[in-house]
Amino acid sequence: MLQTKLTETQRAIDLEERFGAHNYHPLPIVIEKGKGINVWDIEGKKYYDFLSAYSAVNQGHCHPKIIEALVEQAQRLTLISRAFHNNLLGEYELFICKYFGYDKVLPMNTGVEGGETALKLARRWGYEVKGIPENKAKIIFVKGNFWGRTLAAVSSSTDPSSFGGFGPFMPGFEVIEYNNLTALFNACKDPHVCGFMFEPIQGEAGVIVPDKGYLEGIRKICTEKNVLMIADEIQTGLGRTGKMLCCDYENVKPDILILGKALSGGVLPISAVLANDEIMLTIKPGEHGSTYGGNPLACAVAMAALKVLKAENLAENAMNMGSIFRARMKKIEVPFIKEIRGRGLFNAIEIDPEKSKFSGYEICLKLMENGLLAKQTHEHTIRFAPPLTINRREMDFACDIIEETLMDCV
Ligand SMILES: Cc1ncc(COP(=O)(O)O)c(C=O)c1O
Repeated sequence: MLQTKLTETQRAIDLEERFGAHNYHPLPIVIEKGKGINVWDIEGKKYYDFLSAYSAVNQGHCHPKIIEALVEQAQRLTLISRAFHNNLLGEYELFICKYFGYDKVLPMNTGVEGGETALKLARRWGYEVKGIPENKAKIIFVKGNFWGRTLAAVSSSTDPSSFGGFGPFMPGFEVIEYNNLTALFNACKDPHVCGFMFEPIQGEAGVIVPDKGYLEGIRKICTEKNVLMIADEIQTGLGRTGKMLCCDYENVKPDILILGKALSGGVLPISAVLANDEIMLTIKPGEHGSTYGGNPLACAVAMAALKVLKAENLAENAMNMGSIFRARMKKIEVPFIKEIRGRGLFNAIEIDPEKSKFSGYEICLKLMENGLLAKQTHEHTIRFAPPLTINRREMDFACDIIEETLMDCV
């Protein structure tokens, strides 16, 4: 019995290896089912999911309300394209604009398309509203940024594994230090700058939390210098950090807000760019779009996913469970933990490579063996980001697994 099942696991891995591009290096586990904060592998073993598909599954796997919306809409109409109106798009647009307090939304699919859309809006606004001369618009990014894998996204990247071998790159981008308001102030002195794009907490860079006042400072400089503040809340948004948006920590409202991932609760690729009319109306019919963007299935799913966040107070739960998580982690006495950081349920443990026998990947393998799935970012940082539906009992249990595993690594 065991032999057959192990073979199934190996077969699934081998098929990917043989017929799929080698652009990922997953842990050797084959998942076949998910419910709430748990997933099950093909052998029937249960795990705590502490990655949540990079924060796309904030509402928990296969949330019944979201799946209900998906199934019901899938039986009526899934895609009609934007060549025609559909009965749900306007309803969804009204819903999400009211939810986040913007005039308009531009619906897209993946996160990176949301980023591309935001940058096109910023450039267009730069030319039409700010009066930047043609083809001179500049956008400022920060070191360690991650917003996807398109050529524009890797053009702004400072990570050689993202940009190496993919040039030539997009012009008109400048990269400054993260968490450095003086650098931003100086960069924005250039009158050709139309936008500043940043993550309120850098996710892929290793859950890097900027100093208090950074978000407020960005808002102030962008307003003073007439530069659009573009917040990429694709990973930090929708309750993950303990507030609906991470920008809410400093009560600042970006000019352009990009959402994705948990906007569908992990069900479909759905992203959204929100802005006010002065920015959004600079793009006219035929100048931007996507076949699937704003499809009725996505509209139904996104409304359900957003309703679940509020109905279940998931941001508040993330805040509470996150405090418990960090407090527990700080009590673990092992020599190789360099730092524990994060907000809400967006956390990371940084391993000191000088003091650890194991790499981040190897520790993740041990966690997996013990029933908890997490993923290292870069070599030595392990991110812990469970679905926001996790309760106290589950959190205690998961923390026990992490503690035992780390103690075993000494
Ligand atoms: C902050 C941020 N922006 C954008 C993206 C890109 O999203 P997607 O993979 O859906 O294109 C990611 C993905 O991890 C992200 O973390």
